[in-house]
Amino acid sequence: MFYPEELIEEVRIRNDIIEVVSSYVKLERKGRRYFGLCPFHNEKSPSFCIEPAKQFFYCFGCNKGGSVIQFIMGIEHLDFLEALKFLAERAGIDLPEPEDAGEKEKSRMRAQILEVNKEAARFFFSTLAGKNGARAQGYLIKRGLTEKTIRQFGLGLAPGGWNDLTKALLNKGAEKNLLLSSGLSIETKNGELVDRFRDRIIFPIFNIRGNIIGFGGRVIDGSQPKYMNSPDTPVYNKSRELYGLNYARQSKSRKLLIVEGYMDVISLHQAGIDYAVASLGTALTQSQAWILKKYAEEVIIAYDSDSAGQAATMRGLDILEKAGCNIRVLIIPDGKDPDDYIRNNGPEKFKNLVDRAISLLDYKIRAEKNMYSLDTVDDRLKLLNSIADILAAHDNSIERELYTKNYAEQYGISLESLNSEVQKRRNRKQSGNRTYSLNKNTTQTRGLPEFLSVDSRYGELEYMLLVMLCNDNRLFSKVSKEYNTGAYMDEGARKIAEKLYNRLEQNKNCVLAELLNVLDPKEASYMVRITEINSGLEDTDKAVQQILNKLEILKLEDLQKQTIERIKNEEDGIKRQELGLEFSKRAERIAELKRLT
Ligand code: UTP
Ligand code: MN
Repeated sequence: MFYPEELIEEVRIRNDIIEVVSSYVKLERKGRRYFGLCPFHNEKSPSFCIEPAKQFFYCFGCNKGGSVIQFIMGIEHLDFLEALKFLAERAGIDLPEPEDAGEKEKSRMRAQILEVNKEAARFFFSTLAGKNGARAQGYLIKRGLTEKTIRQFGLGLAPGGWNDLTKALLNKGAEKNLLLSSGLSIETKNGELVDRFRDRIIFPIFNIRGNIIGFGGRVIDGSQPKYMNSPDTPVYNKSRELYGLNYARQSKSRKLLIVEGYMDVISLHQAGIDYAVASLGTALTQSQAWILKKYAEEVIIAYDSDSAGQAATMRGLDILEKAGCNIRVLIIPDGKDPDDYIRNNGPEKFKNLVDRAISLLDYKIRAEKNMYSLDTVDDRLKLLNSIADILAAHDNSIERELYTKNYAEQYGISLESLNSEVQKRRNRKQSGNRTYSLNKNTTQTRGLPEFLSVDSRYGELEYMLLVMLCNDNRLFSKVSKEYNTGAYMDEGARKIAEKLYNRLEQNKNCVLAELLNVLDPKEASYMVRITEINSGLEDTDKAVQQILNKLEILKLEDLQKQTIERIKNEEDGIKRQELGLEFSKRAERIAELKRLT
């Protein structure tokens, strides 16, 4: 750990889990707990809960759990240190720079890459403005971009030579290694550095803090590949960034419009649609969907209307829906992209398209409709069934009712029969997922944390013992006497026990949430799960005794097995007898323990 435990604990305590989680999840109080829809898996009824008194969260659906730190790690896709920084900032606590040498080096490297990227962007920008930039400027103007837009997005030009940028940066004192790790230069077979981007229009990619984290480069003629992009680097992770978000997040509209290309974003912003963003040459990822959700009340998806674009739309919708976004789909006529459309029809027409963007439900049903011709009975039946499926999956009852009516009319189906089909499906669905279960075997859905694998015999009991100890630190002297850290058979539990025993030996108390500080998310989830299973226990003293007994039984049984082996192999009759005696004494003790437990 890079920070002292006390500091980590202070960060945790100063970030009340209810307050933190509330900015991501709508919570409702029920008794001593708060419930909400789990942000870590897709669900329709709330199984995500928080116990304010204990300051941890747990989801009965996907079994994810932990303290406020693991929550932020999961929801913001951060590692432990990043999450800690995030929460420290939130609570106004100054964290010193990490003392760990590796971390220090990484953060130094990141700062240097951002610096060299900025330098490169300046170079590209002035190349575009210079005497060799005329052709590229002509191209951009032909595409309708104004000088102001070019400046706003920091567009530039990579010269046609092999190493103009590389030379310029080396002259300024940049190290070879930095040019490679920033992705600006590439090493040839004979060890020379050349520019990655040559003879291309450059689109700098900004993060939300306004730092330049990478570049995209487009050819000016029709050659291939049309775009080249920076590789992922220590400051740039394509799957987590959205082009244009630095501007779009400041839009007053509270909307985000997601499009496919750099040029679409730029053209839309120029046209006054200042809430456009693009994923960076990759399909929309779940992390990007989380980001969209974080910044916008409504997400409008406007992918190209060609078939690739539509397939991408469908995939994108699933991902956005999982993230809990309010979604609409904007359909551009004639297979155009937003940039083409605006150039041909002007901004106002595009704004009309935004206003007419259709709901998710409509879009899904439309797509179904396109799959069937409606003139055979068989086809109509299939369509009716899929419409009923889609409607039944929709949770908002008012919308469901309205749409049901609407589609019944539109497709000439009687309202009663469509209604009854929808209801049938909903009843089936509800009876299917009414009960919460802590059973490991409950069917799990997409993208859930895998379970921590624990020792099949000792694991659960040992974790239970640790949980009980956290719940009631007074049990420590008894527990440590009967079950010291060396006794733990599950490796993960032993490591946690070492930490916990160590603290309790120094007479420091330790609550579960604090212990979670030093656990990885899987371990934390498992601990919280065990806590939940045992949360109804009244008499902890008795429960602990029972666990200790069960553990003792397991140990004795292990010894019995060994003794049997030894008896089998023992040639000396007297020794055999002794072993036999030992065996039956132990059998008595096991029987006694079993009676007690
Ligand atoms: P498009 O081909 O639709 O690009 O690809 P565009 O932005 O509309 O460009 P123009 O209008 O032809 O100038 C969409 C996005 O896919 C990525 C880029 O991010 C691009 O903006 N892409 C495309 C690549 O990364 N590499 C490619 O070769 C092509
Ligand atoms: Mn385009």
